[in-house]
Amino acid sequence: MGQFHFVTAGESHGKGLVAIVEGMVAGLSLPHEYITRDLKRRQAGYGRSSRMNIEQDEAEIISGVRHGLTIGSPISLVIQNRVWQDWRETMRVAPVDKEVEPVTSPRPGHADLAGAIKYGTEDIRPILERASARETAARVAVGAVARRFLEAFDIAIHSHTICIGNHRAKQREPVDWQQVEGSPVRCADAGAEKAMMTSIDMAKGEGETLGGVFEVIASGVPVGLGSHVQWYRRLDGRIAQAVMSINAVKGVEVGTGFAVANMKGSQAHDIIEPARQGTALPWRRVSNRAGGIEGGMSNGEPIVVRAAVKPIATLGKPLPSVDLSSGEATEAHYERSDICVVPAAGIIGEAMLATTLADAMLEKFGGDHLKETLANYHSYGTSISS
Ligand SMILES: Cc1cc2nc3c(=O)[nH]c(=O)nc-3n(C[C@H](O)[C@H](O)[C@H](O)COP(=O)(O)O)c2cc1C
Repeated sequence: MGQFHFVTAGESHGKGLVAIVEGMVAGLSLPHEYITRDLKRRQAGYGRSSRMNIEQDEAEIISGVRHGLTIGSPISLVIQNRVWQDWRETMRVAPVDKEVEPVTSPRPGHADLAGAIKYGTEDIRPILERASARETAARVAVGAVARRFLEAFDIAIHSHTICIGNHRAKQREPVDWQQVEGSPVRCADAGAEKAMMTSIDMAKGEGETLGGVFEVIASGVPVGLGSHVQWYRRLDGRIAQAVMSINAVKGVEVGTGFAVANMKGSQAHDIIEPARQGTALPWRRVSNRAGGIEGGMSNGEPIVVRAAVKPIATLGKPLPSVDLSSGEATEAHYERSDICVVPAAGIIGEAMLATTLADAMLEKFGGDHLKETLANYHSYGTSISS
């Protein structure tokens, strides 16, 4: 377990979500509105279900912060589920008198079948409640804590949508992040944005769902986070695990990623050349195909991560399944569901990259108070530039 880590708890239609965050330094200013901002960004995005209009996510901080500053103790965050009001019977903690109808038709592509067998339950409800990406609201709240910490070191993290279905954005450098934030699908290419929204509408009409690809970029990351000396210390491996753990993510790549397999060595790498006079470091890169990581360590260039998101498993036109109670052929279970979650997944990607980088920063620079971590960071900066 890393220096900075967290666990989450909570069911999709339970009373709420909880996250406990361990390892954050003291002295970091943490207004709760800062966390709410990212929760709102996660809830937006064309193609989400009507649940996003019901929930008005806010994280209440119930420990680890005093008078606006972190105090070094575990930070706990609580997010209420508004829908719980309608699910009190189905999700009651105490035993209930009347029978609650069980879910018995597993959805292909969801946790339903494997989870029900593994946890020995005839009702799939307990599995789908926790496998639901509602849990990622807690991750985004934790990600905001990590992001606040990273900002003290001028590290910024953004995400945008690269494709939805087979509509791909034309990528321009640098990405216009303001345009992305204003886009319903978090895409900087206005033409592609329109096509993406139309395809989401069409998918909805057909009882279908859509996947896609998002990209997350962290800028301002210092050289030397992670390490080549042990497999589990490699930063690319740690980021891949964090991003792959997001519900519905089926592929992760760093920098050129899979496309590098078809390149020649001379095209694949980022040449190193002398820096211009007056810059802190004596070398520079003219490209960033490696996506900011070489040998499992950050190399000072922006970290660029992309993830493939599968089409959502709950279809308006349900796929064939088997009723586990009777063994008869049936249709998969359906309940209110998103059509496309690529834009929201990008925000969760930001959170998972932020928590991984916060952990790697604390591992490298240590400290119990932010001042101490900053002093260590500046001293390292001076040592590598002299
Ligand atoms: C933001 C977000 C929202 C999601 N919403 C839904 C949904 O409404 N319905 C659904 O079936 N799956 C949804 N998913 C995906 C499932 O949570 C996921 O497919 C499931 O947990 C199985 O895990 P796996 O796809 O990683 O194998 C969502 C994923 C994300 C990232």
